[in-house]
Order: sequence, then C-alpha cells, then structure tokens
Amino acid sequence: MTTEMSSTEDIIGRAEIDDFETILSVVGTEEPDGRHVVHSDYDSIFTWDYEKGARPKLNKLYEKAKGAQWNGETDLPWETEVDQEKMVKDQAEATGGFGAGFDLSGTPVEKWSEKEWVQFGVESQNWTLSQFLHGEQGALICTAKIVESVPWIDAKYYAATQVMDEARHVEVFGKYLDEKLSGHYAINAHLRMLLDDIIADSRWDMTYLGMQIMVEGLALAAFGLMHAMTADPLLKQLLRYVMADEARHVAFGVLSLQEYYQELNAAELRERQEFAFEAAVRMRDRFLQQEVWDRMGIDPKAIVPVVQQAPERGEFQALLFSKIVPNCKKLGLLDAADGWLRTKFTELGVIEFESWVDTTEEYDAMASVPPKDRIAS
Ligand SMILES: [Fe+2]
Ligand SMILES: [Fe+2]
Repeated sequence: MTTEMSSTEDIIGRAEIDDFETILSVVGTEEPDGRHVVHSDYDSIFTWDYEKGARPKLNKLYEKAKGAQWNGETDLPWETEVDQEKMVKDQAEATGGFGAGFDLSGTPVEKWSEKEWVQFGVESQNWTLSQFLHGEQGALICTAKIVESVPWIDAKYYAATQVMDEARHVEVFGKYLDEKLSGHYAINAHLRMLLDDIIADSRWDMTYLGMQIMVEGLALAAFGLMHAMTADPLLKQLLRYVMADEARHVAFGVLSLQEYYQELNAAELRERQEFAFEAAVRMRDRFLQQEVWDRMGIDPKAIVPVVQQAPERGEFQALLFSKIVPNCKKLGLLDAADGWLRTKFTELGVIEFESWVDTTEEYDAMASVPPKDRIAS
C-alpha cells in the first residue's frame, strides 16, 4: 500500500487535505448486478494452541459478549410511528432554525424555503443511515476475516461474537431504513475506497486498525452524536444497543493491537500510522454529504466549501474523532516514528482529543451497568 516516507499525495491521492475540487470529483456508483467484489490474498490461520484465557483480557471480553447479545426483531419497539418531516423540523428548531450558523448568501441555497430545507433534512437522514448500513456490512466482512486470519484462539472466539453483532447491526439499520425512512443511498465513494483498502490488505492487524480502531471508533462517536440529537425513541434505543456493542468492538481492537504492536519496529509502525491517516481523511471526506446535495439539484462544489467554513461544522467534524485519537495514543501510534501521526492529526485539527478517555477504560466502566441501560457517552 504505502512505503516509508510517503507524501500526503502518495497516501490520499492529493497534496492538500481540503482540496474540495478533487474530493468532490470522486463520485460513487453501484454495480448494475448489485455486487461489489474486493479481492484479497491472506492467510487463514489454524492454531493448535487451544488454551482458553491465555489472553485474559480478550477472554473476559468474550465472556461479556456472550451475555450481551440482543435480538433486533424483538428487543426494539418497531411499532413506534416515525414522522420523518416532523423530526427534521423539531431538530432544526432545537438548533436555532434551518441553516443557522452558516452564511449562505450568494450560494445556490440562499433562497431556499422551509420546504426545501425539510426535504434536505429528510434526504440527509436517509443518506446518513444508508452509510451506517453500508459501514456495518463492511464490519461484518472484516470481522469474519479476522476470525480466519488472527492467530490467537481468544481473539478468534471474541471475533466470532462480533460477527453476530455486525449481522444484527446490518439487520436493524436496514429495517429502520425500509420501514421508517424514505429511501436508500448507494455507498459513498470515499467510504467504499476505505473499506476496499481495509479488506484488500493481507495483514491481519491492518483489518483491526482500519475497522476496529478507525471505522468503528468513528461510528461510536457518530452514533453518540445522533443518539443525543434524535427525538425518535425507536432510533434512540436502536443506537443505544448498537453503541454498547461498538464500544466492545473498539476495545477488542485496542487490546489486540496493543500486544501485536510491541513486536513491530519503527518502519512497520510508520506504515500503520500512514494507514490510520489515510483512513481518517477518507472518513472526513465521506461526511461532506455530496450525494445529498446532488439529489437536491445543487452542485456540491458550489456549496460544500461554504458549509465547511462554518465554525460549527468544524467542531462537529472534530468530535467524530474523539474516540479515535485517544485509542491511537493508547496504541503508541501518535508518537512512534518521530510523532508522524501526531503531526498529521494536528493538521486535521483533532489532536485536542488525545487525552480523552480511551475505549478500553470506557468499556470497563460501562460493562458494570445492566445491558438495557448501557450507553457509551
Ligand atoms: Fe456494528
Ligand atoms: Fe462493530
């Protein structure tokens, strides 16, 4: 993928992180036969060392996971009526009205009435949940791959429980989209590039870094923000259940990589840092919602740079990294190889989170609460 001393352009395909022209020219498509095939060459590893609990922390996580299973069909209040337009209006009211905090004069949306803003809000919600759905399928595939490729029995056991968790997440996000919202979106091109890179990499620890640390770390923060904002009791409960699982998944990534990274030298760690940086940029790119603007008949290149300049937007985007940065720090990835990733996360404007609580600590605190009350804050 990348070699030592790669430039930003080598890693993410552009020299400037905020080059919107380039970012927005990458547009997602869905294959006509409805299948997306990613090739991967990797070793499936048997282990003859069956000693359960040789890695006590992973064993503890596995035992917790067995007791934390829930049923997506029967444990959520699917009978709840969801009025999407009302939800969008209420949310706008709670945050100061449509477009509040943005200077939109001179842009194509300057003259939008409430009707267009409500439609935008509805589309935005359809888009967001669709991306969650596709990301969950990515997690399902990655974790099945970890079951095969990780060499430790305790990790195989734990990953098997996560495969079930991810199947349930795909199921409940799909059901919510079909039954309560009003349309699907194809996978965002930047999210797809990232998932393809994670799956195509033959090294088992890269699957963990890409999925458990980066994608799931971001998902945990994004679900938390949506959980705090939504007024729909069904979505709130769905997210609370999913987040309890995700916190465990991220903790699984941290515990596994902590041990493995101790064996790696500086050049190998630098490759991991570059992969973490690439993933961070792809996820940032995916949040531009370019497909929603398109569907509203607005050229994303005329509006995205304006929206991105608003201070509120920057704060929101930074918060998405509030789980990733402390976990990278715990793994030693911030300061390895002369602090390369620290510099990159500083450029991305997310280094402020380095001292926030990491997910292994957070999960320990959460696990002492009964399953139905669990929520990662
Ligand atoms: Fe998930
Ligand atoms: Fe997950």
